Amino acid sequence: MVQVIAGRYELVEVLGRGGMGAVWRARDRTLGREVAVKEVSLPQGLDDAQVERMYARTFREARSAARLDHPGIVTVHDVVEEEGRPWIVMQLVRADALDKVIAREGRLPPDRVAAIGLDLLDALNAAHAASVVHRDVKPGNVLLPRGRAVLTDFGIATVAGDETLTQAGAIVGSPAYLAPEQARHQKATPASDLWSLGATLYAAAEGRPPYDRPDVWGVMAAVLSDDPDPIEHAGPLAPVLQGLLRKDPDQRVSPGEAERLLRQVAQGPAPVPEPPRFAPPVPGPRDVT
Ligand SMILES: Nc1ncnc2c1ncn2[C@@H]1O[C@H](COP(=O)(O)OP(=O)(O)OP(=O)(O)O)[C@@H](O)[C@H]1O
Ligand SMILES: [Mg+2]
Repeated sequence: MVQVIAGRYELVEVLGRGGMGAVWRARDRTLGREVAVKEVSLPQGLDDAQVERMYARTFREARSAARLDHPGIVTVHDVVEEEGRPWIVMQLVRADALDKVIAREGRLPPDRVAAIGLDLLDALNAAHAASVVHRDVKPGNVLLPRGRAVLTDFGIATVAGDETLTQAGAIVGSPAYLAPEQARHQKATPASDLWSLGATLYAAAEGRPPYDRPDVWGVMAAVLSDDPDPIEHAGPLAPVLQGLLRKDPDQRVSPGEAERLLRQVAQGPAPVPEPPRFAPPVPGPRDVT
């Protein structure tokens, strides 16, 4: 039987599953178009007050994400309640996420990673200008339609994660892309998104995140106190990756400088000027004597 959310959105197939539930391809019966619908399921073991808080926050975050209108940001169309849970209705992007592309193709060449980085930086700059922080930039939230990168899950991805992170002994998902200040439960700022952008681009260029450890506690400890694992393949991206991954948010590379460094890599090495070639003498106007 077809499941219909809020009497309007017909769930067609699961596109992917993350820490908070599934993302579906769905059909909007009212407007006759396809959309993506994210189911927000709750982590186990929350009390009523926590559940209430999480719902309120999901709606609030979805509302703030819905204010963003940018080609590098998945548009949020609607948030509805069904089966006592929030569902977020958004623009359907027919493309794989970066985590899948890395799993399938392995690490990507630096110029391609730089182009992805420029798109993501542009999207983040637009969001930050509107006072919206993403808080969960990571390969699973970067969609790659032909020749572009688009960010999904704006501000809403960590609604469940935050509640759970504050509970002793439980972490949902991987903290590999969480900025050190977020790992310490401090407020996420635009600079935290830049750190996560650095970790995401590092993973794309190296084929593994900057802190590759066997368990979440090891990753968490490394994010807080170790240098990123040595860069082996990212080559010309090394300065921007290191600048974005500085632990102190005040020392992190600025968006403007990150853009300059990424642009250099995206454009490739400056062309070496060609040596002058022998050219036959151009016949000039004859000397009339
Ligand atoms: N707007 C969208 N259009 C098309 N596919 C999407 C969209 N948003 C997400 N997806 C797909 O659904 C997958 C699962 O997304 P989901 O947000 O549930 O998991 P995640 O990002 O991997 O982890 P997390 O739950 O921590 O965010 C994504 O990896 C992506 O492939
Ligand atoms: Mg996601």
